[in-house]
Amino acid sequence: MSEPRRLVVALDGPGSSGKSSVGAAAARRLGYRFCDTGLLYRAVTWLAIERSVDLGDVNRLAALGGEVGLAPDEEGRLSRVIVGGCDVTEQVRTAAIDERVSDVARVAEVRAALLPRQRAIAAEGGIIMAGRDIGTVVLPDADLKLFLDASIEERARRRAAERGLEPGEPAARQILAELRRRDRIDSTRAVAPLRAAPAAVRIVTDGLTFEETVETVVAAIRRTEAGD
Ligand code: DC
Repeated sequence: MSEPRRLVVALDGPGSSGKSSVGAAAARRLGYRFCDTGLLYRAVTWLAIERSVDLGDVNRLAALGGEVGLAPDEEGRLSRVIVGGCDVTEQVRTAAIDERVSDVARVAEVRAALLPRQRAIAAEGGIIMAGRDIGTVVLPDADLKLFLDASIEERARRRAAERGLEPGEPAARQILAELRRRDRIDSTRAVAPLRAAPAAVRIVTDGLTFEETVETVVAAIRRTEAGD
């Protein structure tokens, strides 16, 4: 029997839809690589703050794109953020970055700087690449396009639980407001807005457990590997 094909899979969806945790778990199960492209936008945002680069200075912002990189963790996922040889993974996941990253990601020059980096990562195949515009812009020829979605309330609940918050407490309500704001910026920006590609398989995860979602993603990839 011949080996299954190792695909290029685009996994898009809004913030906190579970793309990174589900994508990483599915990749592990399939022996694929995993890349969370949001980390690149987060890294540029972090560096811009460190260097006090004005978010309106688009050329300087775009140049920062050349200084950020991703490295594999112990499981081979491209989940470590490297800037100037240092691991800044923890620093790019803070609320301060959450607040500003959509304003950096909407800048066309930043997106253009990061585009070839993402394509180079995907080039050798056997990868699940997660983001907002992977199926529409970065990898329009991906073998399979998935769009992971959930209601905003469900996504806010998950993000609040991740941070150890009780539903209804002010910090949890703040997460909902912040997600709503980021959804609006990510889906209405002029360049590469968050959108399901026409051929994307949409997976709505409200009411699904994490395991069920991973299983749905793995099954979709296996079907495509088998040529169905
Ligand atoms: O998935 P995330 O929350 O880490 O993404 C951070 C930001 O980067 C978010 O505002 C959307 C943006 N992003 C993007 O515009 N395109 C991508 N391919 C990935 C993320």
